[in-house]
Amino acid sequence: MTAFSTPLSRKLGLTYPIVAAPMFLISNKEMIVAAAEAGILGSMPSLNARTAEAFEADLQWIRSRTDRPFGINLTIGLTDPERLRQDVALCSAYEVPVLLTSYGDPTALVQEAHGRGATVLHDVIHLKHALKAQAAGVDGIIAVSQGAGGHAGQVNPYVLLPWLRRHLQVPVVAAGCISGGEQIAAAFALGAELAYVGTRFIASAECGASADYKALVVSSSHEDVVYTDRVSGVHANFLKATLPDETAPDRSPAAAKRWRDIWSAGQGVTLIEEVKPMGEIVEAMVREYHDARARLSG
Ligand SMILES: Cc1cc2nc3c(=O)[nH]c(=O)nc-3n(C[C@H](O)[C@H](O)[C@H](O)COP(=O)(O)O)c2cc1C
Repeated sequence: MTAFSTPLSRKLGLTYPIVAAPMFLISNKEMIVAAAEAGILGSMPSLNARTAEAFEADLQWIRSRTDRPFGINLTIGLTDPERLRQDVALCSAYEVPVLLTSYGDPTALVQEAHGRGATVLHDVIHLKHALKAQAAGVDGIIAVSQGAGGHAGQVNPYVLLPWLRRHLQVPVVAAGCISGGEQIAAAFALGAELAYVGTRFIASAECGASADYKALVVSSSHEDVVYTDRVSGVHANFLKATLPDETAPDRSPAAAKRWRDIWSAGQGVTLIEEVKPMGEIVEAMVREYHDARARLSG
């Protein structure tokens, strides 16, 4: 497979400019290692380990299996401050190369990360959040578009990516509905420097989602995806079949349980046809990317 790159992916030391994006409860250390072996950046939320001790054990496990770069997602505003402090210290101790920050002000994390040469990419759905994060010193902005899995925005990527690029000096990463290489080519045509892929990797052999969850991702189309704030108080995309008829808004810790029972996925489910090992998914993405480029130039 012919490698391809962007300035940001070269800075991160990736073979392919693709990120297996962090997913609450279901991204795991096995995905991080499989992603590293496939030449992309794997990641998981630190909170997928129930305790800071369990998180440290995961970091040790990852470090014992790969020297390649990986990312940890710190969900700033959703994490207990003491746990956040512990997780940041562990990222520093284990020299986690990339911090993926979301839901809050990344200023303190940027200072910590830059002090040790790490990269910080911050997740946004709107230019106003991107400008604040850029002022805080982040190295790139993850533009989460309409239709993305998890907490998605409402702006179509055809608008979101050029809009952010027009107003930002830092690189932009494309998130939302990227299930294959054609979408990567499209995102890069719009100026993105990394493809940030969540939903496609739910249907991977290594993902911690249940077999039923993976099967539902494969069998669903975008018509089965509902954008609602009634699960956790923040708008996100969920698979309709797992939503109860009536769900009251809930910002409490019990919301974590809801994410276990109510499954999130983005509109990209329409293009996902089978559960495969991550390495094979990446291989197909790379092939499709090169095919799309060849079609455009030919
Ligand atoms: C099940 C699920 C859980 C997610 N949990 C998180 C999370 O904990 N933190 C975060 O920053 N993003 C989270 N996301 C968003 C992803 O990191 C990424 O932005 C998104 O999946 C990209 O869109 P796509 O799913 O259409 O590929 C989640 C996405 C999914 C599908």
